[in-house]
Formats: sequence, C-alpha cells, structure tokens
Amino acid sequence: MKVTLKDKTFALYLREEEILGNIAEIGKRISADYAGRTPLLLGVLNGSFLFAADLIREVKCDCQITFVKLASYIGTGSSGEVRELVGLAEDIRGRDIIVVEDIVDTGLTLEKVMDTLQKHSPASVKVATLLYKPEAYKGKHKIDYVAMEIPNAFIVGYGLDYDGLGRNLRDIYQIVS
Ligand code: IMP
Repeated sequence: MKVTLKDKTFALYLREEEILGNIAEIGKRISADYAGRTPLLLGVLNGSFLFAADLIREVKCDCQITFVKLASYIGTGSSGEVRELVGLAEDIRGRDIIVVEDIVDTGLTLEKVMDTLQKHSPASVKVATLLYKPEAYKGKHKIDYVAMEIPNAFIVGYGLDYDGLGRNLRDIYQIVS
C-alpha cells in the first residue's frame, strides 16, 4: 500500500497492530521498573502525541504526563539547528522522568532535552522512543526503551510527519521516492 504526501511517495512499513504490540512490551517494562514510584512522562511534541497516549495506557504503576516542545527538523533532512525547549511547567526537581520521543535520529533533539532537564535536578532521567535509527544516532545517551529500531530512511505516520502531513496515518510508511 502506498500514500503520496505533497511531492513524495511512501510505502507501508509497520502496521498499527505491530506498533501497538511493541508499545505494550515497553509499557510492561516501565511498569515493572517503576513499581512503587510515580514517574513523570515528558512527551516531546509534536511527533510523540500518539505514542505518548498509547504508552501511558500501558503503564500500570502510578504515573503523570506533561509535554514540552522543541523542533529540529524541516522536510526530509535534519537541519542541524536545534531550538529551545519550551513548556516545561512542572517542577521536576527530584522526579523520575521518562522522556517520550517519537523518533531518535541523530540524537540532537534528545541532547537538547537532556541538557535542559539536567539543569532542573531530576532524580533520574530515562528515554522511551517509538522509533530509533541506530545508524544515524550520534548521541551519548542510552536509549532505555525502544519500541522499534529502523534503518536510516525517512518515515511518516502514527504521529510522524512530512512537512506537517501524514501524522493521521494509523500505520507507519517509509519513503520510496
Ligand atoms: P534528531 O534530532 O536528528 O534525533 O531528530 C529527531 C526529530 O526529527 C524527531 O523528533 C522528529 O520530529 C524528526 N525526525 C527524524 N527522523 C524523522 C523521520 O524519519 N520522519 C519524520 N520525522 C523525523
């Protein structure tokens, strides 16, 4: 199955059932790892909104959620330019934070998020991502919870976009041309 968004064509890559199954797995791991604690999930908008919504419903211990925003991407190539983290309203001092990312590509976005969070003295920070591109990753932080590893190709769907389009697709699609 193929979809066209603006000038690009994408082919079906990961079905919704597989995505949700993998999210349930990391939800189980988080529930076990944080039993007896109350982690604060910190979703990085915009791309993580669907993942965060599905992940939090798989977390069975007490937990809270908040969202921040920070964008580093324009079109199909990483711009290398990382903007400021905005919207950190919660007091995260002494809290157990789980950063919730849609995709970790080069890791520049995550780097910025982690640097900002560390300044607020959280008790711990772990990272959960829906997708991880190990071939592109240049960061130093461990990615603790990965729903799916993917090759270094541009994808859309399930919250991820191409120029703002495709976030509403239930499955994930990979670029073909
Ligand atoms: P990084 O800073 O290079 O790790 O890129 C992370 C951000 O770039 C993600 O939060 C996405 O918003 C965006 N991004 C990276 N790869 C893709 C992709 O394949 N499709 C859609 N967005 C992507």
